[in-house]
Amino acid sequence: MSKTIQNSLNYKKYVVDSKLQYFKPNSAKIEKSFADEVSFSLTQNSKFISPKFFYDKKGSELFEKICDLSEYYPTRTEINILQNLKENFAKYVDHSFRLVELGSGSSVKTRLILDILNKFQEKIEYFPIDISEILTESSSLLQKDYENLHITGIIDTYEGGLEFIKNYDNKKNLIIFLGSSFGNFVPEDGKKFLKKINSTMKSDDLFLIGLDLVKNKETLENAYDDSKGITAQFNLNVLSRINDELDADFNLNNFSHYARYNENKQRIEMYLKSLVEQFVVIQKANLSITLKKNELIHTEHSHKYKLSQIKELMTQTGFDIKHIWLDENNYFALTLVSKRF
Ligand code: AVJ
Repeated sequence: MSKTIQNSLNYKKYVVDSKLQYFKPNSAKIEKSFADEVSFSLTQNSKFISPKFFYDKKGSELFEKICDLSEYYPTRTEINILQNLKENFAKYVDHSFRLVELGSGSSVKTRLILDILNKFQEKIEYFPIDISEILTESSSLLQKDYENLHITGIIDTYEGGLEFIKNYDNKKNLIIFLGSSFGNFVPEDGKKFLKKINSTMKSDDLFLIGLDLVKNKETLENAYDDSKGITAQFNLNVLSRINDELDADFNLNNFSHYARYNENKQRIEMYLKSLVEQFVVIQKANLSITLKKNELIHTEHSHKYKLSQIKELMTQTGFDIKHIWLDENNYFALTLVSKRF
């Protein structure tokens, strides 16, 4: 059986119109439910909640607000680098590249890359990969502004989506993974993920990754504990989500936002701190938990990198570095790599 046939069997194709289609896997992925994950992670010795649960509707809105904060430098710094890329970047791609994005952007960042491609592509092909159906919303937003844009959304995990694209056809792919989202991975998982991306790439494909760099502790901690308290709201919102979706009774007033830079591990560690000894019932997870006063629930790691570590990481996971672009403060790096043969 050819790979192509296998693809069309495993995915269902939805055609919205001549410029928008999307693919969804037939068999629901054997993923643990929110309730299952939470009942595991809140009964460990060190309690945690995965950062992927931040992004319900409210959480996504709060994250957008974070991106506009003066203290949160990553978004505007990365945008600044992208704005300055232009010809410097264009020389690595040609008319035959399609854009593949991990995460579905309708944001300024996706648009800046589309603008570069738009200069020499009559028809731009864009393949966003996102596990959430939000993909269809962000796609239609983009189409309003780019009439030559043809979108094929893949509603799947990043790994699943990349595998799909590898087998789809022989077109060259420019894969982008922006915003230092990679920073959520602990080093071991991050390496596995990069190797996975590498294994789905063809010889002419390119991969562009945005990574946040190590800098002074104060700047880092202010970015994750802003004066308006938006990051605190973002962090606490995951408890509201558990309350709403899993019938729990977290009292948000009994928790505080706690974010510290761990210099040793080069990462911001975010926690929810229990201000009192308390009991919480999570009905749909069949669970009641006790939290001690000052007990921490870990919610996020956000790793920061040195340039030398980015080079090492890419080399170790099978890539050749084409170029690294930085901002004037060396706050953030955009790294373009190809697969090493
Ligand atoms: C979306 C994971 C890149 O780590 O900076 C922002 C999330 N958390 N403020 C980051 C986040 C708190 C963000 N990433």
